[in-house]
Amino acid sequence: MQTINIQPEGITTEDLSEALKACVDVLSMHIRYTIDQYSVEKEANDQDVQFATPDIDHFEAITHQFPGSYLFQLDKKLNLNKDDLILLIFAYAWEYKHEIFTPFFISSDDINLINDFPGGLDQEKKRFTPFFRAFLNLYFPEATEQMFLYFTSEDHPFIKNDVISFEYLFSKDKIYGKMSSVIKITEHFVVFLHGGKYPPLDSEIGFPAKLATSSMEFDEVVLTNGTKESLDPFITWLRIQDKVKGQKEQPFYKKIKTNKMYVFAGPPGTGKTLTATTLGKRYGLSTYTLDISRVVSKYIGEFEKAMERVFQKLDGQDAILFIDEADALFTKRSENINDAKDKYSNQEMSYLLQRVERFDGIVILATNVRDIRTHFDKAMLRRISEIIEFGFPLQSERLQLWSNAITPPFNFKEGILEKLSEEFQVTGANIASAMSNVIIECIDKDIYEIDQTLIEKHLQKEYFKRDSKFGICRDSAPAGLLMEQRLGRTAVHTGSRM
Ligand SMILES: Nc1ncnc2c1ncn2[C@@H]1O[C@H](COP(=O)(O)OP(=O)(O)OP(=O)(O)O)[C@@H](O)[C@H]1O
Ligand SMILES: [Mg+2]
Repeated sequence: MQTINIQPEGITTEDLSEALKACVDVLSMHIRYTIDQYSVEKEANDQDVQFATPDIDHFEAITHQFPGSYLFQLDKKLNLNKDDLILLIFAYAWEYKHEIFTPFFISSDDINLINDFPGGLDQEKKRFTPFFRAFLNLYFPEATEQMFLYFTSEDHPFIKNDVISFEYLFSKDKIYGKMSSVIKITEHFVVFLHGGKYPPLDSEIGFPAKLATSSMEFDEVVLTNGTKESLDPFITWLRIQDKVKGQKEQPFYKKIKTNKMYVFAGPPGTGKTLTATTLGKRYGLSTYTLDISRVVSKYIGEFEKAMERVFQKLDGQDAILFIDEADALFTKRSENINDAKDKYSNQEMSYLLQRVERFDGIVILATNVRDIRTHFDKAMLRRISEIIEFGFPLQSERLQLWSNAITPPFNFKEGILEKLSEEFQVTGANIASAMSNVIIECIDKDIYEIDQTLIEKHLQKEYFKRDSKFGICRDSAPAGLLMEQRLGRTAVHTGSRM
């Protein structure tokens, strides 16, 4: 069993799934009671069988008795009600404590009982697996249809967060619909309930956004003064958003735009992704990067469907949705729609514009496009809270980047730090990548003092990758040369990307 940090004082790891155990015991009592009650009443009146509804309140009461338990954590995190809780315990019980349901197996020749509590019988394993309908009849005999709709709705916290799925024991059951399905807790949440980590939002297979993490802290990100200044409003919002959201009743709330969208624009490797992840980490937000290749589709409607999954899942989850290469999605909508392709991208664009308006979270659009104000759709630009430009690092930033790139037992030869930062037009990413190779070579060859020749050897590869000529170029060089050095030869020709 893994320990995690939510463990309150005085409660051991062993106790943490205690609430779950206690709830399963109560459920077991309910099952026995129902079966007994059933046969007694059946004998009394064969026509019309009425079964007693077990007391649902027990589950909530027990869960709240164990505030350190994983069950309670989940209850709090997803803001569950007592009906949700009982579904969860039921789904857990039939799979992990299936002996509770043995009485159904034994009484399976009782046609009335099995009609009211249908399920799958496995003769070989002597097992009874209750269907969703059995659950509804057991706990909500007066409102089965209503509760069916409630639990299967896309907005239900269990569906939204992938806590449960409806599966079929036999493929023939599918034709009877979800009432004949079995409720399964997804593997990740079973692990959590047993004392594991809380599942990340991207744990669902094929989910088009991935959690981005960084071992660095925001203090270690080296930015130009201009970038730092333009980041200020973003940082302020990160700092106060929790406070603001807790005051929805206040008159000022209506005056504040709470669905924030930022643009991070700048050349490759200048720290856009790094800034989003480290700032997120500092203010308790998870950064999810969208995998564009997974959402862009040649089929109409597929894009909206994939994006909807992302937005729904991240809604209200303290998340940043980081969209890389956003220019691919948000370029100008064409004014005269000529071909079918244009029509689809217009439709996708309109969808995105209105969806972002409703999104409870932060969206960051990252781009390498040089002037996004002329490149981006006007309607999109209106909705953007801030455009933050990540400039190419100048000598003073490069000096800091180079000196952060080294760690004992290695050190730079006297005087080369200044020379390196003055003479080479490189980004934080170039430096990190070159220094990784330098250090590997140093370890291999037992070198502790690093000289310029060794660094240049690995730096050349960085120039090759971005297609610029390796050579000395100071910040005072002519603009054309600087551009070639910083962005590569192709940038000079096309002029549109940084
Ligand atoms: N400003 C910076 N300060 C410190 N390290 C940096 C900086 N910029 C880049 N790095 C280093 O380079 C790596 C890659 O940077 P990052 O992914 O943030 O670049 P990016 O701007 O998102 O690039 P791209 O446009 O190619 O996605 C970082 O993980 C970090 O190691
Ligand atoms: Mg990036």
